[in-house]
Amino acid sequence: MAKSRTRYVCQECAYESARWLGRCPNCDAWNTFVEEALAPRTPVKARVASSQRHAETTALSPQPLGAIVLGEETRLATGVAEFDRVMGGGIMHGSLSLVAGDPGIGKSTLMTELGKYLPDRRVLYVTGEESLRQVKLRAQRLGVTSDAFLLFAETNVEAIIAAAQEARPDVLVVDSIQTVFRPDVESAPGSVSQVRESASALLQFTKSMDVATFLVGHVTKAGSIAGPRVLEHMVDTVLYFEGDRHHAFRILRAVKNRFGSTNEIGVFEMQGTGLAEVANPSAIFLSQRSYGASGSTVVCSLEGTRPVLVEIQALVTPTSYGTPQRTATGFDYRRLQLLLAVLEKREGVRLATHDVFLNVAGGVRLEEPAVDLGVVVAVASSFRDVPTDTGTVLIGEVGLGGEIRTVSQLEPRLKEAAKLGFERALVPENNLKGVTVPKGIEVTGVGRLHKVLDLVL
Ligand code: TYD
Ligand code: MG
Repeated sequence: MAKSRTRYVCQECAYESARWLGRCPNCDAWNTFVEEALAPRTPVKARVASSQRHAETTALSPQPLGAIVLGEETRLATGVAEFDRVMGGGIMHGSLSLVAGDPGIGKSTLMTELGKYLPDRRVLYVTGEESLRQVKLRAQRLGVTSDAFLLFAETNVEAIIAAAQEARPDVLVVDSIQTVFRPDVESAPGSVSQVRESASALLQFTKSMDVATFLVGHVTKAGSIAGPRVLEHMVDTVLYFEGDRHHAFRILRAVKNRFGSTNEIGVFEMQGTGLAEVANPSAIFLSQRSYGASGSTVVCSLEGTRPVLVEIQALVTPTSYGTPQRTATGFDYRRLQLLLAVLEKREGVRLATHDVFLNVAGGVRLEEPAVDLGVVVAVASSFRDVPTDTGTVLIGEVGLGGEIRTVSQLEPRLKEAAKLGFERALVPENNLKGVTVPKGIEVTGVGRLHKVLDLVL
């Protein structure tokens, strides 16, 4: 029997090699090469022919800009503000989106909710992971009653496309891309080749039929299942559904969007009856604040264009081992170490014999340097065991010299703080020029870290 030709493919980044390699020369990942059958190459002639099929979207020769007729930009607005905002104002017809996230985070729930968001639209939900019964139970729990919500349990991409051609849905959901396969590709479902080839078939279908397609993809740390990384350049929109599984908050973030901004986030809360919109995230993130305890501060982080107020908690205790421990949840570990070094060097806070635990409340992940000041003050407050004023919000980046550096978009941050009843804000001195301070909040400019510590502790 003739052995079919194979090659080795990195399951992280799809780098191909003729022989097995321990380490991928492209992405430096270890042990990620898996033997896969060579995909049958489509001859160029056939490819040209296939692009001629949807000639209304693909012209055969280069065209001057003026000759290109713009059709009406049609978006399906769901009316769910948190979702529409992330999608750039609604779901674009003929777009392919990837919804990626950890297993169990709520991707299937979000996709099933589309049936509730769009009750008058035909939604075809293809499930490769769950039984029809399971999806029906979930849909029932979420309150999806629409008759236009069609369910199909299938993993063969050709059958999925055939069914979709028949059903002509407005929205097609494939849950998940890792479970589907094309019979003409020999590799196992979930391998890089299968994921890529299946997605490419669904892409062609999406563009030619003008449906809006969502592919669900799991992200795994181990490289055994192809992460959706290889798909990112193929799709129009990449949405990440994130959150801490032990907390109810979920953040939908667009990391790529050909039809909108990638700055926006949508905040949801996972409830017994599905995902509820969170229109005012600050109020929720602050709802369980530890008033009056030392080591707690409130910062304002810009998530997309939205300012969000979040509580930061620090616990500093004498260390019982030789090396002090540092833990950061929801905050970059290296950044924490850097800030501790600044605190030690510039303010003489002796942390070398203390453990430092830092926690961002509510399961949020903060990445903006503007929250530095709140982190530093929380640590100093716990170290000295002096609580900070609960009506103060701290805004500013901390430099290596102990200077407070400017942040972007100060005004919207102050507005959000004032809206939530904060009475004082410490902000970078250099930020104050030309800023209109909202009513009800008193703003103090600070230039150096020791001034801040004098003021608040
Ligand atoms: P699911 O959407 O199945 O996650 P994914 O598709 O990303 O793997 O949802 C996972 C969790 O959500 C599950 O543990 C149960 C919980 N959940 C709720 O809390 N409320 C609900 O209404 C639903 C449908 C699920
Ligand atoms: Mg699922």
